[in-house]
Amino acid sequence: MHHFGRAGGVLHAEGCSLVDLAERHGTPLYVYAAATLERHYRVVDEAFAQVPHLVCYSVKACSNLAVLQLLARLGSGFDIVSGGELARVLAAGGDASKVVFSGVGKRDDEIAAALDAGILAFNVESAFELERIERVARERGRAAPISIRVNPDVDAGAHPYIATGLRTAKFGVDFEAARRMYAHAAASDALDVVGIDAHIGSQILETAPYADALDRILEMVDVLAADGITLRHLDIGGGLGIPYRDEEPAPPRAFGDVVAARLAGRDMTLVLEPGRVIAGNAGVLLMRVLGVKHNGTRTFVVVDAAMNDNIRPALYQAWQRIEPVVLREGPEQGVDVVGPICETGDFLALERPLPPVQQGDLLAMMSAGAYGFSMSSNYNSRPRAAEVLVRDGEATVVRPREQVSELFAGERLLP
Ligand code: LLP
Repeated sequence: MHHFGRAGGVLHAEGCSLVDLAERHGTPLYVYAAATLERHYRVVDEAFAQVPHLVCYSVKACSNLAVLQLLARLGSGFDIVSGGELARVLAAGGDASKVVFSGVGKRDDEIAAALDAGILAFNVESAFELERIERVARERGRAAPISIRVNPDVDAGAHPYIATGLRTAKFGVDFEAARRMYAHAAASDALDVVGIDAHIGSQILETAPYADALDRILEMVDVLAADGITLRHLDIGGGLGIPYRDEEPAPPRAFGDVVAARLAGRDMTLVLEPGRVIAGNAGVLLMRVLGVKHNGTRTFVVVDAAMNDNIRPALYQAWQRIEPVVLREGPEQGVDVVGPICETGDFLALERPLPPVQQGDLLAMMSAGAYGFSMSSNYNSRPRAAEVLVRDGEATVVRPREQVSELFAGERLLP
């Protein structure tokens, strides 16, 4: 469910015409719908209402301050993976006591900043990291709240680059290592054991991998309890999938039922780290057609957005719907939608059936709210797109288009 639809044949975002937005703010342009973000947050929150829980939106999916602010106001916590993301959460008015800090390589300065802010938990990914956190905490005269990220070794069936729960991935530690780490942490005055954590992958469509992961984690919880270690929370990570094309992801409620059945009777708070399911279908990438060309047997629709604006098609062979903002009559034709970047891998869609498209037309790439702008870059010295958030029919520029001069403002010529 999202708030992008046609009125008078023209695609709109929550009552704002995308033609008007493109004219006012230029292209390429990211447009987010506040109602969709809010709706998705609530759907996830309510899906897990059967158990005490905390939704920690995964900042990496879409990290614009206004998006974080909107979610913070709904009561969301945040899953971060860097000092930069912590700074964003704090700048957006997020509550540090609802922040979990994941990632396999945290630096001292990032650990210190998170300790000073008073986060809920460090999701610890290795024995060396546990020692590092312990040392930094001791230097600051504090106890660091920790949760060990275990690797339940389940195959979530996602693209290999985003599957994280297999033993061969760099994430987390196996149960035996985790047990030793918990024993060490429990005996340390600079560490406070608060939870256990896992994240098995992204764009997961079925509940079975979660059920398997949860069963294994709960076995671990019981072993730890027998060791005299009690945990206050269980963080199951993110990963809930969304429909990009014709996928039919299990609804959040189904995931909620899986969890509720397993956590019943246990005195543990569930922590969730959803990113894509909240932001994915809440954003589109608007682009203008620069021209149409034919080479050999192929037709190329050259647009002003490129792989630097959305790298998902090039990096993961991701399929995202592309729709003309104003429909033209005529038969569909298979085309490649490509950007101006000097790489054959710079495409947004390959052999995609599209209605007739002409120079100057606007196209909207759908489902671009998650891992779109947040993964964008300045490759080919392209300023990053502007971001607009539409709310109650009103559009706010939440990040102006970058200027070329900003791209090298920090660079220096040799003396
Ligand atoms: N928690 C942790 C520890 C994570 O690593 C991730 C995502 C999440 C939560 C949020 O997962 P989500 O609910 O969004 O699936 N760039 C890729 C996705 C990478 C996901 C990385 N980790 C893409 O565009 O598909």
